Amino acid sequence: MDQRQIVTVILLISATVAADYVRPRPRKILHFPWNQRSPSQPQQVHVSLAGQNHLRISWITVDQSSPSFVEYGTSPGQYNLISRGESTSYTYLLYRSGKIHHTVIGPLDPSTTYFYRCGGEGLEFQLRTPPAQFPVTFAVAGDLGQTGWTKSTLDHIDQCKYDIHLLPGDLSYADYIQSRWDTFGELIQPLASARPWMVTEGNHEKESILFLKDGFESYNARWKMPFEESGSNSNLYYSFEVAGVHVVMLGSYADYDKYSDQYSWLKADLSTVDRKRTPWLLASFHVPWYNSNEAHQGEGDGMMASIEPLLYAASVDVVLAGHVHAYERSSRIYNGNSDPCGAVHLTIGDGGNREGLARKYKDPQPAWSVFREASFGHGELNIVNSTHALWSWHRNDDDEPFRSDQVWITSLASSGCLADEMHESRKILMAP
Ligand SMILES: [Fe+2]
Repeated sequence: MDQRQIVTVILLISATVAADYVRPRPRKILHFPWNQRSPSQPQQVHVSLAGQNHLRISWITVDQSSPSFVEYGTSPGQYNLISRGESTSYTYLLYRSGKIHHTVIGPLDPSTTYFYRCGGEGLEFQLRTPPAQFPVTFAVAGDLGQTGWTKSTLDHIDQCKYDIHLLPGDLSYADYIQSRWDTFGELIQPLASARPWMVTEGNHEKESILFLKDGFESYNARWKMPFEESGSNSNLYYSFEVAGVHVVMLGSYADYDKYSDQYSWLKADLSTVDRKRTPWLLASFHVPWYNSNEAHQGEGDGMMASIEPLLYAASVDVVLAGHVHAYERSSRIYNGNSDPCGAVHLTIGDGGNREGLARKYKDPQPAWSVFREASFGHGELNIVNSTHALWSWHRNDDDEPFRSDQVWITSLASSGCLADEMHESRKILMAP
């Protein structure tokens, strides 16, 4: 058997395995045993980027008098640096949150392990700062929740070498039961205390009650993102830069029309992107614009009509969305048509929440839909250099990660798409 025949046999076997794959049922919400600890012990520790060379450490204590400082250094147990931060708390009907601490540390060196302790109490944690240059890897999984499948997805993400976690909305599936925000914080702590987690809001973060509660109170209190650092006036949309990549994290549930704050901020933010410094430009939000699943059809149309011309004018390379509990990858597309200078759209709302998979697809598959599969899993975007990135999607095949889709993506900056700055489509970014 020659090499080509061997490859053919392997492909045939792989195809058979994929065809025989039985889609799993949803798994139950995890049971979290009561964990006795002192009221001042930090819990739910997570890390996020907070401007150039800085990270924000967030944690919660039951004790409302616990201090909001972080001690840190590059050797275990030796903290030669200290930062002081801020705190908040909230009430929600009968629930009263713990003290929610947010402390920015830095300036930090890139690609460096730091050891840290929160509020002078409890366990020592360690984190790794992102690199200053390529390569850089993003792990991506939306619609996480806290079920047996969530655990499986998190285990697989933990096994891969990644620098930053991107979460395009729907975090805890607390759905008004505030203690579930706390159990979610505990579930993800092993990962989120070690790498920056950059999130944007989904519909499950809204938790509004007519006349009583505006939406996103719990989310905003617990998951403070670098909106102030990126010139935004809302935690629901912001941007950050890391290792040659500019990322805009948008809000599907914030106003997005042409007269909205989000639109004005996005336009200004995209105008400042320097592709010599950040050759890659990514966007992430919750509700997908290109979706051939029966679930959530058309929900992204309003935002798409307003915002897609801005993203196209700025030559956004890749869009990452969630919401639909399945995986889908598009070809480069703009305004519904194949376009070599449009974005690749990835829907990855398959982290493992309790609602289960979205199994029904539109038939026939649209021409722009390159790959679609209703399984739980996660994605990895490895940006190798200024021109090439390797995207892969890993299905939770029973409990083993199985690379089901993989594609090399070439940056628009290296594809001649930035050349014509006076092109009609770009004027929208320059208009007052
Ligand atoms: Fe959602």
